[in-house]
Amino acid sequence: MSSKFSSTLLLLISILMSIQLLASAGNFYRDVDITWGEGRGKIQEGGRGLALSLDKLSGSGFQSKNEYLFGRFDMQLKLVPKNSAGTVTTFFLSSQGEGHDEIDFEFLGNVSGQPYTIHTNVYTQGKGNKEQQFHLWFDPTAAFHTYTIVWNPHRIVFLVDNSPIRVFNNHESMGIPFPKSQAMKVYCSLWNADEWATQGGRVKTDWALAPFTAYYRNINIDGCAVSSGNLFM
Ligand SMILES: *[C@@H]1O[C@H](CO)[C@@H](O)[C@H](O)[C@H]1NC(C)=O
Repeated sequence: MSSKFSSTLLLLISILMSIQLLASAGNFYRDVDITWGEGRGKIQEGGRGLALSLDKLSGSGFQSKNEYLFGRFDMQLKLVPKNSAGTVTTFFLSSQGEGHDEIDFEFLGNVSGQPYTIHTNVYTQGKGNKEQQFHLWFDPTAAFHTYTIVWNPHRIVFLVDNSPIRVFNNHESMGIPFPKSQAMKVYCSLWNADEWATQGGRVKTDWALAPFTAYYRNINIDGCAVSSGNLFM
């Protein structure tokens, strides 16, 4: 092989590899649309970060452009600090229409010094009632942490910083429905739910502290995207 040819080949390979790296890192500009909140949702850091805010008039939210049937969905979040009572920050998957399927991570705010509650749930054909709640082993407002949903035909796993906190196995053979036939989009939002969110609804949102802001970073979707009946990876 001539040295000219082999150096051209090396250059080509390195270009291809960098394209591959770019394609695998998520980007909010490429992967999501901000769908509500009239300017309260903002993409930052060239697409690496996204801030959602909530004030008395409105919260805000975004959703993935694609829908997916199974995959691994990673999101880093830094939650509303200090008194976040009444606020709910979400990261979930959902199909659309009647009898929808849904896989939820919801972060229920609390007064300063009291722990956030992580609320998880799984809906199949419109039926939920599979809530499980957790308290975290760190302060989720001090730094970004990674929250992950792994969804395949056998099980759903909820992970926090790569540690599984909940496994929901497919027990269809025992008559328990499992979401596996409807494609889902990724949804994230920050909204006011002070009717029920904090200490059973007893503590209301303190609007003097608004706007409240939650930060998302490094969305990473490794899923099977479904678009008008076509499958592509
Ligand atoms: C808030 O703090 C209280 C008291 O520590 C705790 O019982 C509750 O689970 C926390 N989370 C929410 C969302 O109320």
